[in-house]
Amino acid sequence: MEGIAIMTSGGDAAGMNPAVKCAVDYSRSLGYKPFLIFNGLRGLIDDDIEEAKRSSVSGIMHRGGTVLRSSRSKRFFDYESRLVAYENLKKHGIKKLIVIGGDGSFRALNQFYSDFKVPFAGIPATIDNDIPGTDYCLGVDTALNMIRSNVDSIRDTANSFSRAFVVETMGRHCGYLAMASAVTSGAEICLVPELEYDLDAIGERLRLQIEEGRNFLIAIVAEGCNMSDYLTRWIHDTLKVDARLTILGHIQRGGSPTVRDRLMAFKFAVAAVESLHRGETSNIMVYRSGNFGTLPIHKVTDSPASVDPALVELCKPLCR
Ligand code: F6P
Repeated sequence: MEGIAIMTSGGDAAGMNPAVKCAVDYSRSLGYKPFLIFNGLRGLIDDDIEEAKRSSVSGIMHRGGTVLRSSRSKRFFDYESRLVAYENLKKHGIKKLIVIGGDGSFRALNQFYSDFKVPFAGIPATIDNDIPGTDYCLGVDTALNMIRSNVDSIRDTANSFSRAFVVETMGRHCGYLAMASAVTSGAEICLVPELEYDLDAIGERLRLQIEEGRNFLIAIVAEGCNMSDYLTRWIHDTLKVDARLTILGHIQRGGSPTVRDRLMAFKFAVAAVESLHRGETSNIMVYRSGNFGTLPIHKVTDSPASVDPALVELCKPLCR
């Protein structure tokens, strides 16, 4: 029986566990012997690898994070470490890999493929939703719901106390989480790296609304703008509204995967197993305009990340 190993790598994301479960069960049904690699790329080097039992993936659907744990291993950049990883795979009879993670992990696995010709399939998973070529990455819906629930709570206190709240969302250099959250939570301001902002125009717009009786404000700021502190002081000093900053941080990465993330995980995992079963060697699973497909790794790593232009358009009135 040919071995197929499943790993999670990079920042954890809700939906990784359902993807692991489905990849194990589906690959077994096609006659493969599934293995689990723990601790991401580090575990590949350290031989943190074991055959997947039915019990290893039962009861994990509803759990956030990744039961396989994860890492961002710098050691994998060294050929010597990758050679050790390859020897580990050979020892276990593992001939194919499924990696659930971000484009950094895909790049690492592609280097591994160039070195040793071990085929891999990538499943996009990161709350940042910044992987080129796919509209959706696992973890995004759960993160958005986590942000929504927190902003809903913050609005209660903002309204009660007539305050402004700046809420900083994650996303690294990508403003997707901030934009989707600003639109769906009815925020008054949204600052993201993708859009130029005009504080004078924002000031004029909101001063009018305050004169008309607005008593609270919500601003959603993407961490990639590095503007949260400044905006909080600016609101206080310029608009004369008492302002507080809430940095949501890693709370956005945790929590039980939503139904959407569980379903997407299953569909991506089936697609990944099938891609390897067809003999494809280095493809990334993608979801574009409502359809599932695959893209060769270079199409993903050589393209810039972009956010749905319709969502960007919706946010424009919030940054000026
Ligand atoms: O890529 C996921 C992410 O949560 C980003 O949104 C954030 O910038 C980063 O990881 C945080 O990294 P760490 O968990 O290493 O602090």
